[in-house]
Order: sequence, then C-alpha cells, then structure tokens
Amino acid sequence: MDSNTPQPPAWWRDAVIYQVYIRSFADGSGDGTGDLAGLRARLGHLADLGVDALWITPWYVSPQVDAGYDVADYRAIDPVFGTLDEADAFLAEAHAHGLRVLVDLVPNHTSDQHPWFREALAAGPGSAARGRYHFRPGRGAAGELPPNNWPSVFGGPAWTRVADGEWYLHLFAAAQPDLNWDVSEVREEFASVLRFWLDRGVDGFRIDVAHGLTKDPAYPDIEVGATGLLGAAADEHHPYFDRDATLEIYREWRRIADSYPGERTFVAEAWVSSPDRLARYLAPGLLHTAFNFGLLDCPWEAPRLREVVEQTLRVLAPVDAPPTWVLSNHDVIRHVTRYGRAETSLDDAKRLYGTPSDPELGTRRARAAALLTLGLPGGAYVYQGEELGLEEVEDLPADVLQDPNRFWSGGCGPVRDGCRVPLPWSGHTAPFGFSPDGAAGEPWLPQPAAWKDRSAAAQLADPASVLTLYRTALAVRRGCDDLGEGDLVWLPAAEEVLAFRRGRRTAVVVNTGADPVPLPEHAAVLLASGPLDGPLLPGDTAVWLSL
Ligand code: NOJ
Repeated sequence: MDSNTPQPPAWWRDAVIYQVYIRSFADGSGDGTGDLAGLRARLGHLADLGVDALWITPWYVSPQVDAGYDVADYRAIDPVFGTLDEADAFLAEAHAHGLRVLVDLVPNHTSDQHPWFREALAAGPGSAARGRYHFRPGRGAAGELPPNNWPSVFGGPAWTRVADGEWYLHLFAAAQPDLNWDVSEVREEFASVLRFWLDRGVDGFRIDVAHGLTKDPAYPDIEVGATGLLGAAADEHHPYFDRDATLEIYREWRRIADSYPGERTFVAEAWVSSPDRLARYLAPGLLHTAFNFGLLDCPWEAPRLREVVEQTLRVLAPVDAPPTWVLSNHDVIRHVTRYGRAETSLDDAKRLYGTPSDPELGTRRARAAALLTLGLPGGAYVYQGEELGLEEVEDLPADVLQDPNRFWSGGCGPVRDGCRVPLPWSGHTAPFGFSPDGAAGEPWLPQPAAWKDRSAAAQLADPASVLTLYRTALAVRRGCDDLGEGDLVWLPAAEEVLAFRRGRRTAVVVNTGADPVPLPEHAAVLLASGPLDGPLLPGDTAVWLSL
C-alpha cells in the first residue's frame, strides 16, 4: 500500500464493546451458571447484534467470593466456566465471527486462596512472602486496632487480622488481599500474565481497579469521606487511589502490548474524581482507553448530559485518546430502571434503591440514550441485557443474594445482584433458554416471569423491540462514515435538547424533555428511537438524521 494512503483508525478508537458477564450470559453445562460452552453457542447473537468486540468478566480459577474478581490462578479457567482449551476455542471462534476479545485483568488484589497468599500466611511476619501483600502490625497497646483508618469499598475496615497478630490490607472483601506493587516480583508476575493471554490471542485487557494498584508506604490515615463510588479518590493526594506511581506501571504494560501484532489494547476501570484525572491514564505511552462513567452517573437532563460530553471531549483531545461511553455495567443499577424514576442520577438510584420506577418511561429514555451513546464520537460499551432493554431486578429474595458488597455493608450498600440476573434467550418460562432444556440446575439468580417478553427470540421477531433498535443502530453506525471516530459540532437547540452534527452530513438530536420539539432541517431520518410526530421529535426520543 502507498504510504500516503490514509490508514483507517485503529479498531479500538471507535469500537462498540459488549460486556459478557459470563456467569449470567448463557449456561451450556446445565448447572445454572453461565459458562464458555454457553457463550460459544451464542456467539451468533453477538455477531448479528453487530458489536465489534467482547469484554469477558473474570473467568479464572476463583473461589467466586466476588464473582471472579478474587483470582486464585491467573492462568487457568475456573471449572465452573470451562477449561483453557475451551477458552482457546472460544477465542478462535470469536475471531472467526469478526469479534475481538478483551479479558479482565485483576491486578489490585488476588484471592486469599491464591498460592502467594497462602504462602504469606504460612511464612509469618517479616517474610518475603508477606512482602508481596500489605501486612502490617496493628495499632493499640496489643496491636488490636487496624494499622490505619482505611475503609473497605465494600464497607467496614480495609484490614483483617491474622492468627499471629498482623493485619493485611484488602480494599475490597477480606478474601481479596491487596498486592504490594512496590515488589518487583509482583510486577514481573503480571507482565508474564499479560504475555500468557496475549500469546493465546486476546486483543486486550480491561484493567480492574486500575486506579488502585500502588499504596503510600507510610500508610497514613485518610480523611473520612475521601472516597466515593467504588472507591473514586476524592483528592489527588490520596494514599491508595489515583496515585502517580500507579500510572508508571502502565508504561511497561503498554510496551508489552505494543510488542504484539494487531493493535492489542487496554481499557482502564478507574474511578477517579474528575475527567481530567482520568485523562492522565491515557497520556502517550500509557493506556489506550478508559471507561468514561460520566453518562452512567448523569441524570437524564440535556444540560447535564451536554456538560459530560463537552468535558470528556475537552480533556481527551490533548492526549489524543478516544472517548468511551457507558450507560450500565455489572456494578450499577440498570439504566432502564434508573431512567424510569423521578430522580435519575446514579447517586439517587443508590439512595432510592427499591423505589418505584416507570418501566415504560425508563425504556423510552434508554432507547434514546442508546442513540445518544452510539452517536457520540469514540467507542461505546453495551452491558449484556441492555440490548434486550432489561430492567434491574429489585425483588430478589434475600436468601439468593451473593454480592459481597451487600454483606459487607450490613445490607445498607447498593446490591449488585439485581443487574446480574441470567439473560432470557427464548421460551415462556424460566430459565428462558439460559440453560439447556431439562437442565438439572436452576439459574443462579431467579429470572422474573415477565422476561418471557424480553427474550432475544421474542424480540427478534418484533420490529419495535429494543433488540431490533440496537441491531439497526449498530448496522447504521457501521455503514455511516460520519459516526464513530470524528468530531462533533453542537447545533442550536432548546434547553431540554441535545443536538450535534457528526461529520459533514449526519446529526444526532435527543429530546430529554417531555414536550415535542421541531426537528432541525434534514434530508432523511436514518433512525429514530421511537415514533416521530410528523416534523416533531417527541419527548424522551432521539433521532439520527441525514442532513
Ligand atoms: C470492580 C469490579 O467491576 C467489581 O465488580 C469488583 O467488585 C471490584 N472491582 C473489585 O475487584
């Protein structure tokens, strides 16, 4: 090829990435838990949906205390999900379907069943084995108090005392001891884990708690209230979140990824205090992308949404990183439910967990939000079930809940099980095709009876379904040069409306208000999230226009 021929942008700059929460996606073995066999059998759904890549939540050997975010062996697949051979076969099949695959890397902590932690417990105070984690003496006359006041993100102190009197740090559950990233062996081990999966052909990694890896070796107390959602650091001098030293780790990781052919990529899960802080992870030589939780956090109000978009684009331009847009994931309330409430911010949703939500209103807004996120510059994430318009399941019986967040906060924290209920695929009764016919096991969380109308099969046949909207939107987006990577120019619009031009000829208009507004002048409607009213765009509706 002539070196002057413009190269297409790298795939990750505007990819739509589908989050597979593997335990709830599809169950091939019949034990009620999703697995690789189920995922492989449903790859056609994902290819037909039209996404570019999959992010698979942790599939490694794990006691599953935090749904796989407690890893006991980073190089092996948990038997509940399958085998390494099946993972290899899955990678090959996904690639054959044109789907790239990101795996979830969990470097901040291991499981307490990881051989390193078991060795640390056995080896005792002062040993090199303890040095791989954060073991400290306690405070108080007899060391009976934790070494400092750091709280676990899941509630309670971030320290647990072991039999010989030392305490170890766990920013999440006690079964998730934090690694000590000042130890070169820890760094070498993760460089090797990266290579292990890159050698097997993965296209990249989602980095869990990417803002958390290093800790201030002085272990100072923090000011109370210095962390927010999932541990977002509230200030830049925080002793364990969003520290400069953590960024340096990613320089080496980037070199490793770049040494492989085919644009291997990273996405950081970094809960930081502002978009400016997030952009630091994406500086040249560091990570490619980061989840931008701005929209997931934002109420359904045009001025606030616009502020998120503007701020995101402004801070990412100087580092030349593409934005990503996220509405939901496995840690937060599903946005259909959030948008169906009177208060639509995430904070309100947490405070108001279990308060009424209007599903019809929530769905209308979620459909409009899909055209907003897929119409913005950069890439987007789709959390499994979002394409089916699933709502949060808020009436799960207490005895089925598994999220350690709930137990650790004494039942006061947000419950993350409600967004993790197994997907409905087909049929009129549970398990709705999630498990094979006649399966011995029940889905690990019960599915609502009403999901018979939400199954992928039921929606495929319905031109007005959420699934049809996603499939159409992704096909239109793929065929439209103006969408994906590129610039955005705001168009004049009423207070309740977001309107912007993409490229030369495409416009996105989103009406977050209740009243219809006139559509701007246009040549054709490419796609609408709901019925239009002649020349008017009804409330809570979005449209893609050809100008
Ligand atoms: C973020 C993950 O998304 C969440 O599910 C997990 O509990 C924490 N990190 C701890 O690994």
